[in-house]
Amino acid sequence: MSGFLNANAGPRYRHNADESAPYETITLDKLTPILGAEISGIDLSKPLSNRQQDEIHRALAENLVIFFRDQHISHDEHMAFGRLFGDLHTHPAAPSEPGKPELMIIHADKDSPRANGEGWHTDVSCDLEPPMGSILYIKKCPPKGGDTLFASMYAAYEALSDRMKTYLDGLTAVHDGESVYRGLYKNYNIADKPQYPRAEHPVVRTHPVTGKKALYVNRGFTRSLVGLPRDESDAILRYLYEHMESPLFQCRFRWQENSIAFWDNRCVQHRAMWDYWPHTRSGNRVTVAGDKPY
Ligand code: SIN
Repeated sequence: MSGFLNANAGPRYRHNADESAPYETITLDKLTPILGAEISGIDLSKPLSNRQQDEIHRALAENLVIFFRDQHISHDEHMAFGRLFGDLHTHPAAPSEPGKPELMIIHADKDSPRANGEGWHTDVSCDLEPPMGSILYIKKCPPKGGDTLFASMYAAYEALSDRMKTYLDGLTAVHDGESVYRGLYKNYNIADKPQYPRAEHPVVRTHPVTGKKALYVNRGFTRSLVGLPRDESDAILRYLYEHMESPLFQCRFRWQENSIAFWDNRCVQHRAMWDYWPHTRSGNRVTVAGDKPY
């Protein structure tokens, strides 16, 4: 168990639940005090006013991952919604809808060898400029299961000891796509690329919108801490992974058909549960391009 619970002094991590200003164009229902909020009172198939767009942006910054229920949007409307937040990112390996490389297919059924996102990760953190956010629209759900878990990397960072924060300050890590993507989609008959992205990023990044610090290493892509002996790098990464996977930093979203989750990859990790075999879970993801972490 990671050491952020201190029996003598209460939890080391105490969330500072700032009361944010009320929203005018959306209704917001928080899943936990730390992250996640369900948004209602908005129809994403209709053009959004500037005020609605601003409030969705603010809701994402304040809640890290936001959810919409009962939305009925076409592929083009899904991509148009993503473009409100930036250029769209094209996944370096995953299958996409015909003629729409930015519209990734998320699908698992009884014949799938695996499902997307089964381990904790940050989407495509191996890119030099990893995606800012991901917008997943699930249209077919299993009768039970298929939840997605999200974890706040602000909370994970804040809960580290001051000594550990000092130790991590200035460190960078290698994120590697090669070991993840090569051969991963052969069941979709997708040929491998000659090479996949690889990048070095700070272990602690500053969010460009909120200015807050977030832990930025993940089991999916991070392979080593730069400039450290291998055994030390492995031990520190193992500690950080165990630490950040504490349920205290998490929320869990239970999908219904036609729900959307929009998460901020700069401060959130996620993990999808494949506990519904032999049932089918299916949808699409649009990913919004991001900047070089600093
Ligand atoms: C992913 O984008 O990593 C998949 C998440 C999910 O299917 O819930």
